Parts: sequence; C-alpha cells; structure tokens
Amino acid sequence: MSTTLKARWEALRQALEQELVALLPPVAEDLEPLRQAVAHALLGGGKRIRALLVELVGAGLELAPAARLRVAAAVELLHAYSLVHDDLPAMDDAALRRGRPTVHRAFGEDVAILAGDALQALAFEVLAREDWPAPPEARSRLVAALARAAGLVGMCGGQYLDLHPAATRVAAVERLQRLKTGALFGFCVEAPAILQQAPAPIQSALARYAEAFGLAFQITDDLLDLEGASAHVGKDTGRDAAAGKATLVALLGAEGARRRLRQLQEEARAALAELPFETRSLEELFHLVIERRQ
Ligand code: IPE
Ligand code: IPE
Ligand code: MG
Ligand code: MG
Ligand code: MG
Repeated sequence: MSTTLKARWEALRQALEQELVALLPPVAEDLEPLRQAVAHALLGGGKRIRALLVELVGAGLELAPAARLRVAAAVELLHAYSLVHDDLPAMDDAALRRGRPTVHRAFGEDVAILAGDALQALAFEVLAREDWPAPPEARSRLVAALARAAGLVGMCGGQYLDLHPAATRVAAVERLQRLKTGALFGFCVEAPAILQQAPAPIQSALARYAEAFGLAFQITDDLLDLEGASAHVGKDTGRDAAAGKATLVALLGAEGARRRLRQLQEEARAALAELPFETRSLEELFHLVIERRQ
C-alpha cells in the first residue's frame, strides 16, 4: 500500500472513531448494558473500508471534511448493525467478529437484536439531524438513499436471498451480492455526489465503480471464507460451503472467482477513467480490496 493511502486510512480511522464516540448518546445507568453492546459492535475494530470510500470520493468531489466524516459515520453505523444481525443464530450463527465474540455471544440474543436496531436508527438520525453542514433537502435525499440501500431492494433483500438460496447461476448470485453488499457501497459513492450535486455522467461513472467494487468485495470475502484462517480473518470462516451459500466460489471454484475479480478490476478502471479528478487512490483501494487477507 502506498504511504499516502496508508496515512489517509489511518487518519480517517482515528477521526471516525472520535466521531462515532461523540455520536453515541449517553444513557441512564439501567441502559448501560445495551449501550455497551452497541459500542462493542461499533468501536475499536473493522477495516472501515466503506468510510474510506466515502472519504476518497468525497475528497475527489471537494466535499467538506466534516460532511465526509458524517456520511462515513452513518455508513459505518448501518454496516455495524448489519453485522450484528448477520451473526445471529437465526442467520449465520457466528461466534467471532472483528477478533472478538459476536454481540449475541457476549451480551445475549435479545440485546444483540436491540443493539442492531439502535445502530440502524442512529445511522438515520445522524444524517437527518441539523448539527452538520448539509442543506435540509440534501439531508432528506441522503436519508432516502440510505434507506433504499438498506431495505427490501437493498441489503435486507440480499440477506434474504443469501439465507433462502435459489441462485444457481452466476447472474443470480451476482444479483444477490449486488443487493446484500453492493447497495451499501453504492450509497458510499452516491452520498458525496448528492451533497455536491455532481452531474449525471459523474454519478453514473461512480455508480459503475461502486458496483464492480461491491461484487469484488463480496467475492473476496467468500474466498476468505474458503481459504482464510479464522484467527487471522477475525471472524468465523469455513462455513459458507456447509451452509449451502450461493457464492461465485461455490459456482466457479476459487480460480473462476479470481478470474471474475480481474474482470471487475478492469470494469472499475474503465469507470474511474471517466471521472474528472485524481483517481489513483480509488484504483489502489480496489486493488487492496481484492488482495486483502482479512
Ligand atoms: C463484512 O464486511 C461483511 C460483508 C459485506 C462481506 P467487512 O469485511 O467490511 O467488515 P469489517 O467492517 O471490516 O469488520
Ligand atoms: C454479510 O455477508 C453481508 C452483510 C450484509 C452483513 P457475509 O455473511 O458473508 O459476511 P461475513 O462473512 O459474516 O462478514
Ligand atoms: Mg451472511
Ligand atoms: Mg456472515
Ligand atoms: Mg462472508
């Protein structure tokens, strides 16, 4: 990784952690266990790749740093909720997340469900409220865009298809992955474009980059499930095949999945070539995502 991107990523991780701590409201003593479960899911871990995507696209579009950070915080809140619920016994039944026990293992299933709900609610609250520099109309557009990405025809729909797999062809698996994983990455590039009122061709090139990014991200995640050691990846691995998950790895094998990654990288490059700002960091981020080991 270039020293420039490494430094930006590290600085963002620190700033984001502070922002998230500040956004988490204090509670009365009897709610402290629920707040601790929320903090367990949200703070002190995670690659923060969605936040970095917001940061890089936001900087490219010359969005103010405070607005970049607020959008990044909302995305990471929504993402943290999705992981808490994804790990529940009724879903992937996972024990380990970000190198620590999953929220339901540490705090109980009822608390994990509520902590996920609270994280999701806070994601929308921090976009909608008026303590950051965005015009009211842009804030409501952001709330609607995040809701779409998270909902029935976004992440929740994708999670349903993941748990009730009927997908036996590549196109069907990719549709599932676009919904489950891609939609939130789509929001990461859409949000800065909404705030900066980017012209349609820029929005469309960003959307194409994010689409390739989301698919590549999930294919790599599925390869890590097959090939990665749980202790290194920081979460349960070796589970997808036994659970009968519909993945490209299951359909095409590891080599076939890697071939698809290289195609997606080309698609991402072509999309970046249409953007009017320096995109080296976004190209590098794509490369990091498909080469990652955790
Ligand atoms: C895991 O996302 C869930 C998927 C969509 C595959 P990440 O790999 O970004 O998880 P963290 O945030 O780094 O823990
Ligand atoms: C989860 O996909 C995607 C989400 C929307 C949370 P996975 O179930 O493969 O994610 P991991 O491997 O548990 O992180
Ligand atoms: Mg899952
Ligand atoms: Mg899972
Ligand atoms: Mg996985």
